[in-house]
Amino acid sequence: MKVVTTIAEMQHVRSTFGADTLGFVPTMGYLHAGHLSLVRYSVAENMRSVVSIFVNPTQFGPGEDLARYPRDLERDLALLSPLGLDCVFVPAVNEMYPSAPGPSTVVTVHGPTECLEGSMRPGHFAGVATVVAKLFNIIRPTRAYFGQKDAQQVAVITKMVDDLNFPLRVVVCPTVREADGLAMSSRNVFLTPTDRETAKLISCGLFAAAALWQAGERKAAVLEAAVHESLRQGSFIAIDYVAVVDPLTFDPYTSGSSAALIAVAARVGATRLIDNILLSRAAPV
Ligand code: PAF
Repeated sequence: MKVVTTIAEMQHVRSTFGADTLGFVPTMGYLHAGHLSLVRYSVAENMRSVVSIFVNPTQFGPGEDLARYPRDLERDLALLSPLGLDCVFVPAVNEMYPSAPGPSTVVTVHGPTECLEGSMRPGHFAGVATVVAKLFNIIRPTRAYFGQKDAQQVAVITKMVDDLNFPLRVVVCPTVREADGLAMSSRNVFLTPTDRETAKLISCGLFAAAALWQAGERKAAVLEAAVHESLRQGSFIAIDYVAVVDPLTFDPYTSGSSAALIAVAARVGATRLIDNILLSRAAPV
C-alpha cells in the first residue's frame, strides 16, 4: 500500500493503473468501521482502490470544529494496511489549496444544498463539492464510495457528478452502527459516557419512525413526531432539525412518493451529530 502526499505523484500512480477499474473512498481520516466497510466494498468491486485522507478546511465554518477534528494518520494507515488497497493519498492543505486560504474556483451545487445541513452550515457543501471534484480529477476513479450516513452529501455529490458529467459511478453504502444503534462517526470520540447514552436516542427515534412507515404511516408530521418523542427523553440534547425529505432532491416529502428519508441533526453536549434513515416500500436501510 503506497502512501502518496503530492498530486503529481498521485497522478503518476493513477497512470500506472491503466484501464483497471479503480474504486475511490474519500475520507477525512480518524477512520472507523463505517469507513472500513466502504473500503471493503471498493476492494471487492474494483481491480484497484485508493483512499484519500484529507481534513478539508473549506468545508468547516468559522465556529466549527476544524481545529479539534480528530487526526491520527499512523492509526489510520495501520487500519487500512490489511485491506488490500493500492494507495492512500494524504495531501497537505497547501498541496490541495496552494492559493491559500482556499480555492479560487468553487463548485456550487444548487438544490439539495439549500436546506437542512446547507442552511445550518453555510458554505459547507461548496467546500465538500469543490474538494471532491478536485479529488475526482486527480484520482479519476471508476466508482466512488460514500456512506448513507451523510445522506445530504450523497445527494449533493450525485447531482454534481450528473451535472458535470464526471465519468464515474457514485456508490452509496449502508450506515454502519454501534450495537446500540448509534451511527458510526469520527466525532463520536468526543462523546462523554453520559453523552453516549443520550446519543443513542437519535437512532432510537429514527427506528421508531421507520417502524411507523413500515406500518403504513405516510404523514411527515407523525413520522417527525416519533423522532422528537425519543429525543425529548435526553436532557442534554439540542435539536437542529428533524425532517422527512425526498432522498434525491432533499425537497420536503410529499405523501404519495414511494421513498423518503428522515434526517436528524442534534447537539449532544458539545458534539453535533447527524443521522438518517432511508424509507421505501422495502425495508429501511
Ligand atoms: O464525508 C467526508 O468525510 C468528507 O465530507 C469528504 C467526502 C471526504 C470530503 O472532504
